Amino acid sequence: ANAPLIDGFSRAITYLRLSVTDRCDLRCTYCMPEAMKFLPRSEVLSLEELHNLSLAFIARGVRKIRLTGGEPLVRRDMIDLVEKLGREIGRKDANALDELTLTTNGTQLAQFAGRLASAGVRRVNVSLDTLDPVLFHKLTRRDQLAQVLGGIAAARDAGLQVKINAVALKGLNEAQLPDLIGWAHAEGHDITLIEVMPLGEVDGDRVDHYLPLSAVQDRLEARWTLRPSTYRTGGPARYFDIAETGGRLGLITPLTNNFCAGCNRLRVTATGQLYPCLGGGQRVDLRAALRSDDPSAQLDAALDEAMLIKPERHHFNIDTRGARPAQPRHMSMTGG
Ligand code: GTP
Ligand code: 5AD
Ligand code: SF4
Repeated sequence: ANAPLIDGFSRAITYLRLSVTDRCDLRCTYCMPEAMKFLPRSEVLSLEELHNLSLAFIARGVRKIRLTGGEPLVRRDMIDLVEKLGREIGRKDANALDELTLTTNGTQLAQFAGRLASAGVRRVNVSLDTLDPVLFHKLTRRDQLAQVLGGIAAARDAGLQVKINAVALKGLNEAQLPDLIGWAHAEGHDITLIEVMPLGEVDGDRVDHYLPLSAVQDRLEARWTLRPSTYRTGGPARYFDIAETGGRLGLITPLTNNFCAGCNRLRVTATGQLYPCLGGGQRVDLRAALRSDDPSAQLDAALDEAMLIKPERHHFNIDTRGARPAQPRHMSMTGG
């Protein structure tokens, strides 16, 4: 029963991305339409179900759990889940969690940073695409830059390591990326840039703003010295040390430099659907397993099934203007 999770391409699965809600208090234009329809709460897993599901993954060798959304901190009982799962970190037996973390937009972080740190979280990833309040409003359709910056400062003050995530957007935050990187490094944060992926319908066309990071890297190298770093987090970023800023820059390049060969992760939506790949394909219904007569056996069988159907890689392509997204699901369902 407790066999490690190894997929059909001999990849060991040790990283679970668990979405705890599809809701969000921002409306990033590349992520969701303004009139996004959220799921009725009855569809979403309960706290107990999220906890049991996490324990089943840990028993099968998952060592890192990242809570995502939507925005995980808009779910009111989310902090209780963090506190419960925090007890699994570094336990003195073979099946302990190495890392419990989350990806957040930062708007509620000031309120929760202290409790996250006390629960055993050591690191948080905060999405922030710009430091300019006008552009922030344009990109997120909300006016919350000050809250996000306050949240980031509170996280640092609580002792959390912060990584900034910025989606690189042509003609939007493109010109400001060096300033954003410089700011993050001056504040002591790592930063990763992300290529926009064709996930779910949005109001505009993502192709208009797609910016290949290969081009960004060339421009940054004209200004700074980027040295490949051996730093690894178990995520898809390749890191560089920037000599002049003394900070770390990660590049996440699903489109220009495929990283699927090193994939170690699965993702589960807030309704308990396991997607073996962000790029789509089949899914496995863990909620049905959790609500069956024999959840433990059913969950194990579902995880075995996921190992059989996990595809070798995604086939995202963002070049075709006006095309429907490769993947109809929004990022906010699976949290990346
Ligand atoms: P670290 O633990 O700090 O390495 O975090 P991470 O990069 O694993 O997680 P984060 O939530 O910060 O994700 C950053 C970006 O990488 C998001 O846009 C994710 O959607 C994207 N990402 C993470 N995993 C995958 C993946 O397996 N495939 C693709 N295409 N993108 C991914
Ligand atoms: N492509 C790339 N990144 C996206 N994010 C949300 N939607 C997309 C998309 N379509 C980012 C958020 C956050 C991270 C979890 O995913 O900005 O940083
Ligand atoms: Fe919310 Fe994150 Fe999507 Fe922005 S990218 S709308 S913060 S879920």
